Order: sequence, then structure tokens, then C-alpha cells
Amino acid sequence: MSQQPFLPYARQSIDDSDIAAVVEVLKTDWLTQGPKIPTFEKAVAARVGARHGVAVATGTAALHCACYAAGVGPGDEIITAPITFAASGNCALFLGADVKFADIRSDTYCMDPAKLEAAITPKTKAIIPVDFTGQPSDLDEIIAIARNHNLLVIEDAAHALGATYKNRKVGAIADMTIFSFHPVKHVAMGEGGMITTDSEKFDKALRLFRTHGITNADSDMQLLDQAADNEALPRDQHNAPTKAGWYYEMQALGYNYRITDMQCALGASQLTKLDQFLKRRQEIAKRYTEAFSASPLLITPHQENDRQSAWHLYMLRLRLDQMKKNRRQVFDALRARGIGVHVHYIPLHLLPYYRERFGYKRNDFPVAEAYYGSALTIPLFPSMQDKDVERVVEAVLEVVE
Ligand SMILES: Cc1ncc(COP(=O)(O)O)c(C=O)c1O
Repeated sequence: MSQQPFLPYARQSIDDSDIAAVVEVLKTDWLTQGPKIPTFEKAVAARVGARHGVAVATGTAALHCACYAAGVGPGDEIITAPITFAASGNCALFLGADVKFADIRSDTYCMDPAKLEAAITPKTKAIIPVDFTGQPSDLDEIIAIARNHNLLVIEDAAHALGATYKNRKVGAIADMTIFSFHPVKHVAMGEGGMITTDSEKFDKALRLFRTHGITNADSDMQLLDQAADNEALPRDQHNAPTKAGWYYEMQALGYNYRITDMQCALGASQLTKLDQFLKRRQEIAKRYTEAFSASPLLITPHQENDRQSAWHLYMLRLRLDQMKKNRRQVFDALRARGIGVHVHYIPLHLLPYYRERFGYKRNDFPVAEAYYGSALTIPLFPSMQDKDVERVVEAVLEVVE
């Protein structure tokens, strides 16, 4: 029974052209901060229809940079959804801000706009909706509430590269949108992240924060006149100092969140296959929904008609009240058959750090907790063969029944 190969819940699809793209970079002078970075940034920005793309080391770094650019700081609060990876909240903690939550919708498992208003306080600076599983959040409603309160929206689209919302592409809707290029995601780079935005001001702040808060752009200098050693700088025709090649300024406390040329070469190569990956993900999700929606023991993921999910994850919910097994038994039985089921996510407010730091407790966000109590992630990745998909279908139906 368990002789068959283990099917993980997600994995990357790397082919020879991806490998060749990375090898090509290894033969050049630039392993980092070379030409592949702007090439990849422009390709992603063009793909999602945004003016700017800033590539960084991870999706978490992208969230951190976005919060910095949004001006999140000590004493502020951000609001995110409780069903997400820790990074969606941690990015605000890194900057000394606090994390509040708005509960999720019981059908889409994304932030419920109806719960958002009550979570806003005078300290709220930004809202971070999470496009959980790849389905876009209720962006129009969330952005309208944000505008009313003069707040920024940073969309966590780590799951949603290639998703659309009311015929608009995710990446060009919120003030800033972040993506992750971890191998389980749509475009694999080992590690990697990006922020897309239409705002030049945010683009500048993001780039500053990505590299130690240091700039060497002539037009951005603050202290050219007063620099301690500015007599060393060349003078222009009016005898004013101009920037020499070595002059730079650190203007904020930033990080080293740079990404490498090898990673961006891989990302750019992967991006050319995004449509193909999305199509296969959709096909698999469709087959799962067909197979599981007939079972009275399973709830399949609800999809809103006005948006197209990027199908990062396929979440089943178990009707445990009608079953003899509990979730742990279903999970263990599927793992024993080599089906790499998982659970996304333990509600963020219930993780020990969040409980201790903010006093969150059970029942604070009941919809998220009820969701979590019955959720099960099943394998979904583009290189799954039809026989793998059928293997998952059969195993799930057998185990739950
Ligand atoms: C919703 C969400 N946000 C942010 C991240 C962080 O991305 P990364 O792992 O690239 O730092 C993840 C990663 O799993 C995620 O799932």
C-alpha cells in the first residue's frame, strides 16, 4: 500500500531550461546585483501589470520591506487574517508594531471585510489581507474600508501569483502586493520574494530598505553639501560638490535583503512557464472538486465567480460530525499511504508567541478556529500526473469513508 512514491503537498517543477539559465549566470561576472535582477523585476511587474517590482531575498523580506515603506513603526498596528503563515504578522513585529486580526469568511477562508472595521483603531496603519490558497481576498471591500480610514493595503499574495480579481491582475490592485518564490509556490527560486506597486515613492523606499538603507543615487543625496569629506568630491561649474563614484549615504536602518542573479535567472525562466503551471493547477483542482463534492463527508473549497484562484493549495474540510475518524486519524492514514497531506495553517493568534505577547486565546476568532479544526491540505503541484491525482482521490475517499 505504501510502496508507491511519497506525494508531497507541493513541489517545484524545474526543467533543463531552468538549469541552463542558472548555469549561464555562473559563467558571468555577476553572481549578485547584476543584470538578471532588473530583468526579473520587470518581467514580474509586467506580468501582473504593475509599474514597479522590487525583488528581495524572501517573501517574508518583501512583507518587511512593504511595512517599512508603508511607514509602519513602533506604536502602530496592522490587521491581518488569522489563517496565514506567521510572516504576515511578523513583518509588523519586526518594525515594533502590534498585530491585530480580522476573522475570516467561513467559505473563502480569507479576511472577512465585515469583521475588519471593528479591528481598526486610531493606531492602525495598514491592512494585510492574505489571498489564502491563491484565491484573492475581497479586495474592493477591503480597499474601500482602508481608504475611509486613510490606511494602506499590503496584499499578501504569496499564494496568488497569476490570480485575477474582477478581471484585474493580483499585483496591481493593492497599494503594495507581495509574492513569494519559495519552491512550493508558483515560481520557484529556492528563496525569493517581490513587492509590486504603482507608487514611485514606495518603490524608492523598498529599494532603500532592501540594501541597508543605503543609496548612491545622485538625486537622492541628503548631505552632499555637508559630507565630512566633501572636499574630495568633484565640483560642478558653480563650485558645488557633485557625487563622486564612491560617495553613498545611509539614510535609514535597512537590511541586506538582496537576491542573487542566479535566483533571478531561475525566476525569469520559471515565469515563462507560469501560465502552463496555473493551467495544470486549475485542472487538478477541478478534478478534485468533481471527485469530492459528491461526498457528504467532505467540503470542497468555495470559489467566488468574479475571481480566478492561482490554486497554490487545495484545502478540504472534513465533516467530522458525520465521521467515525478524527482529523488526526485521517491525516495519519493518508500519510501511511504516501499521500503528503498537511494542514494550513494553525491560526496565527494561537501560536505560543502571539498568545504570550498579545494575550490571544481560544475563541478570539471562532471562524478561523472552526476552519482550522477540520482543514486538510492535499497534494497539488503542476507536475502531478493524472494517475497521481487519481491516487489522491481514491485514497481520500477510502480513508474518510
Ligand atoms: C501567506 C504567506 N505569506 C508570506 C510567506 C513568506 O514567504 P517566504 O517563505 O518566501 O518568506 C508565506 C510563505 O509560506 C506565506 O504562505
